[in-house]
Amino acid sequence: MKFFLDTGIVEEIREAAKWGFVDGVTTNPSLIAQTGRSQSEVIKEICDIIDGPISAEVISTTTEEMIQEGQELAKIHPNVVIKLPLTEDGIAACKVFSSEGIKTNVTLCFSVNQALLAAKNGATYISPFVGRLDDIGHDGMGLIQEIRALYDNYGFNTQILAASIRHSQHVRDAALVGSDVATMPYKVMKLLFKHPLTDIGLEKFLADHQKSLNK
Ligand code: G3P
Repeated sequence: MKFFLDTGIVEEIREAAKWGFVDGVTTNPSLIAQTGRSQSEVIKEICDIIDGPISAEVISTTTEEMIQEGQELAKIHPNVVIKLPLTEDGIAACKVFSSEGIKTNVTLCFSVNQALLAAKNGATYISPFVGRLDDIGHDGMGLIQEIRALYDNYGFNTQILAASIRHSQHVRDAALVGSDVATMPYKVMKLLFKHPLTDIGLEKFLADHQKSLNK
């Protein structure tokens, strides 16, 4: 399973890049707004840090404007993936980009039918929002499982990008149900390392080693 960071904060990306397993980055208008910087400036800097798919979301809401805006975003770097909302206009724009060989990430997906539309139009990635479904008492991970079955039934190449990840259990479950990618906040990625027994075990190894030196 590929690991993407879901952030626009370049300091977080620089830190995580040191771990060696970050495969890409996703952003969205809210994450970009939090940086106080322009989208192009942030995306450019991210592309210099991570050599992998970098999702940049359009703000436009009509197909024509999405295509125009997406083509501008694609010029920033070959690794830029155009993020499009799952609307009629976004799905239509997805078809145009996939026919031009421009990678797309169709976002704000909350149903199997929506994921089917994105795959039929050649989306590179589909982003089902697990956490936001859980937030309203629905089964976010169940949706990932259903999309996995749907895409396997028909051999769709669209990659499932589990998004809106809230905690390390989401990462575990996404991997177990066969998501191709999980995109997560820096704080969640950092938590993946953690287990109390690892800390306790290491402490004892070091203490025993120290004792053996003092003999
Ligand atoms: O960036 C897309 C998705 O990961 C957003 O997640 O936490 O705003 O529900 P969240």
